Amino acid sequence: MPRCILSPLDLSVEELNGLMDTAMDIMKNPEKYSKTCEGKVLATLFYEPSTRTRLSFEAAMLRLGGRTMGFHSADSSSATKGETVADTIRVMSKFADICAMRHPKEGAALVAAEKSDIPVINAGDGGHQHPTQTLTDLMTIKALKGHFDNLTVGMCGDLKFGRTVHSLIKALVRYDNVKFIFISPKELMLPSYIRDDLLIQNNIAFREVTKLEEVLPSLDVLYMTRVQRERFFNEEDYVRLKDFYILDKKKMDLAGKEMLVLHPLPRVNEIATEIDDDPRAVYFEQVRYGMYIRMALILKLLEIKVK
Ligand code: NCD
Repeated sequence: MPRCILSPLDLSVEELNGLMDTAMDIMKNPEKYSKTCEGKVLATLFYEPSTRTRLSFEAAMLRLGGRTMGFHSADSSSATKGETVADTIRVMSKFADICAMRHPKEGAALVAAEKSDIPVINAGDGGHQHPTQTLTDLMTIKALKGHFDNLTVGMCGDLKFGRTVHSLIKALVRYDNVKFIFISPKELMLPSYIRDDLLIQNNIAFREVTKLEEVLPSLDVLYMTRVQRERFFNEEDYVRLKDFYILDKKKMDLAGKEMLVLHPLPRVNEIATEIDDDPRAVYFEQVRYGMYIRMALILKLLEIKVK
């Protein structure tokens, strides 16, 4: 099996640091990297909608001088004819050098990786994992805070279905003394494979609360998320929960001057546009970091060294 990235834990802390260093260098010297992937092809296999992640991968490959191809919905692929992910990836392995794949089913990227001749990057598998969003989040925090140790990180919204939250927690527990505060309605609390099997098993400090206001002053980072409509079993529950949290100016007044607000995007209602110009709101800046860290990851998986 080629080197694949299915979970953030598929990269060691050293490798993560190396990727962030490379991404920083690309930001400073884009010219040096602009032809490093000439002749290489990235396939984007997206069975589920995406704007940012897919285009971020494509932008990353194009800026490295490579090319891209792919599909952006299951409807426009042979999945509609009944082709399995395993067969599709076998075919793609013949066309491309590396691929990024998003699928609504948990574990789909693993199935692909097992049959692939080329590196597979999981670009989101159901409510499970989203490692390159995590790289994006880590890169943003590292660039703007300088470190991860001793941070108090609040995660707010749909902690049950939000794969970006699950991935980010997995990555952050590897740093020293990171404290978590999970803010969600009762119905959208963390699944037990994260809460019990990861956090409690490893003695990680965390609190679970429903009120955002009461914890805002203590946070270094607030990670806001959208309620994941597509993973709900009924629309009624979604409608009842979708506006549970709305981060607005009044709430931002309760937060510290240095607190960062991150969001994987797309945003629906959970962050009022009135705070977009607040210097603490870094979610659009986060998108930029995402492209550079994906550039660094593509180079690493293709084993391209740049001097
Ligand atoms: C996230 C995802 O797909 O999980 N989006 C993204 O990749 N930036 C978050 C979301 O859809 O809410």
